[in-house]
Amino acid sequence: MKAAFIRRYGGNQVVPRGFPSVIELGELPAPQAGPGELLVAVHAASVNPVDFKIRDGLLKMIVPFRFPLILGNDLSGVVQAVGAGVTRFRPGDAVFARLDKQRIGAFAEFAVVAEADAAAKPANLSHVEAAAVPLAGLTAWQALFEIGGLKAGQKVLIHGGSGGVGSFAIQLARHAGATVATTVGARNADLARSLGADIVIDYKTQRFEDVVSDQDLVFDTQAGDIQHRSFAVLKRGGVLVSIAGKPDGRLVRQWGLNPLLGVLLDFLSRKTLRLAKRHGVRYEYLFMRPSGAQLERIGRLLSEGSVKTIIDKVFPLEQVRDALAYSEAGHATGKVVVEVKAAR
Ligand SMILES: NC(=O)c1ccc[n+]([C@@H]2O[C@H](COP(=O)([O-])OP(=O)(O)OC[C@H]3O[C@@H](n4cnc5c(N)ncnc54)[C@H](OP(=O)(O)O)[C@@H]3O)[C@@H](O)[C@H]2O)c1
Repeated sequence: MKAAFIRRYGGNQVVPRGFPSVIELGELPAPQAGPGELLVAVHAASVNPVDFKIRDGLLKMIVPFRFPLILGNDLSGVVQAVGAGVTRFRPGDAVFARLDKQRIGAFAEFAVVAEADAAAKPANLSHVEAAAVPLAGLTAWQALFEIGGLKAGQKVLIHGGSGGVGSFAIQLARHAGATVATTVGARNADLARSLGADIVIDYKTQRFEDVVSDQDLVFDTQAGDIQHRSFAVLKRGGVLVSIAGKPDGRLVRQWGLNPLLGVLLDFLSRKTLRLAKRHGVRYEYLFMRPSGAQLERIGRLLSEGSVKTIIDKVFPLEQVRDALAYSEAGHATGKVVVEVKAAR
């Protein structure tokens, strides 16, 4: 099957367009569905910043990948075959999913998805639209509701509301009845309002601390100084959920990784952990996980039109390097998607 893969880590951001990249396009054997798994013919797969981070080897300490490694973390496609014990799906069903972090590979003609991680693709969405959802949508869902416990009437500040994750987070928080503030560039202010943001802050010309305070939840997609300053806008007992930058040592302990790595990550997170204590708030780093059940709930919101996908650009599989470079430039509005079926 046709696939985009790497045989070693390395960036393609430093080489000019057209120069050989660490990402190869070629033929690899198609995977097979084991017990409890679906073999999916991929129609589209979205680009997430984690794709170029994996390409560059930034996750190798916490997720041991094997080469050749097919990139791509989420997809929309059609079930081709099912493994033993699969009951919810049959060949011919359209599904969307975030792949298991140990078994990624959506930038290919076929990929394997655990049954529990898949959900029926909303019929009103194209595969390109559906592929934009799983990783970013689940991240927003888990940050806001699973970890953040967001409820109607509460106040949430979402950083980066124009990004892949932020554009879902605004809509989900608004649908849950929260008052939503978000930081975006001026060119995306109208978009943020149309998605449901009550307060739109221009991150280039305004300080969010001058606009909002007493938030129940801050959803940090930016890390660094923005994260550190965010503690001041939370009410006591509030929560800051971060998906950006480095995790603290808890993730390492939960995943049973080398304890020394946990000590190192706690050391690197010491300012964040100190600020959380000083402000009397909870700090949680989220590394999102696949969930077919949560994706089904998001799928219902997509079907009824309460949530929509914002797509910036679609690339054919052959241009996957350009797709990653476009995402890596950091200014996509909504999602970048790679269309695979068109390349078959
Ligand atoms: N831990 C996890 O499980 C997890 C899951 C998903 C994502 N993430 C991470 O979360 C981050 C966001 O992901 P994403 O997919 O949403 O990224 P993205 O779509 O690439 O984000 C791009 C958007 O961010 C906006 N932006 C850039 N700098 C900003 C700032 N200082 N303030 C507000 N907005 C800003 C840009 O707007 P302009 O064009 O106007 O600059 C652009 O619209 C990435 O670092 C990603 O790796 C982590």
